[in-house]
Amino acid sequence: MDTIRIAPSLLAANFTELKSEIESVSSADWLHVDVMDGAFVPNISVGIPVVKALRKATDMFLDVHLMIERPVRYVEAFCAAGADMVTLHLESDQPQHIFKAMELIRSQKKQVGMAIKPMTPATALIPYLELLDMVLVMTVEPGFGGQSFMADQLSKITHVAEDMTRYSPQRALLEVDGGIDVQTAPMVKDAGANVLVAGSAVFGKRNRRAAIQALRNA
Ligand code: DX5
Ligand code: ZN
Repeated sequence: MDTIRIAPSLLAANFTELKSEIESVSSADWLHVDVMDGAFVPNISVGIPVVKALRKATDMFLDVHLMIERPVRYVEAFCAAGADMVTLHLESDQPQHIFKAMELIRSQKKQVGMAIKPMTPATALIPYLELLDMVLVMTVEPGFGGQSFMADQLSKITHVAEDMTRYSPQRALLEVDGGIDVQTAPMVKDAGANVLVAGSAVFGKRNRRAAIQALRNA
């Protein structure tokens, strides 16, 4: 069986207490940071200075999810700020600029992820698969935490997992993001996901360690 990684999403944390919030999820594997520009998605969250501050505050693996248009403009800055993985959206620019952004992340010796929105088919990923460290299948429309899991994305996760056995000899990771909790975690694991992002299901609970363990065991 695959090792499961749990990545609490900072979007659901208490921003006035970021340091202790991060410490409260130190039993997780990664810290997921959602960057939104108010253009690619209808919301604005945090950016480069916050990633820089997080890098100073923790040794955790920083999984930076860019929900921004034309990410090629900013990927180097996010790498320099201390991201370990930079994930950009397939829909966020023309393919040639997406490939360029991936190359820039790679040249900074960071990991490269690619996310797809619920309406984007699995097949759209094929040209990129051999170059990726991770694929992120969104299980809600990106932009907000606390939304309901879209069960119709399960077959897509299975499809992506199958394509990855064929086109990803480097065995890229398969992350899911949106509405993941103890009910939906077993479904996405069965479909082939091995990195689980969870905002509300971790930061919405008083006992974060128990919440993380519950997602691992689910
Ligand atoms: C949504 C973000 C998610 C969000 C998940 O666009 O990408 O990472 O924080 O929140 P939950 O787990 O509450 O659905
Ligand atoms: Zn996210």
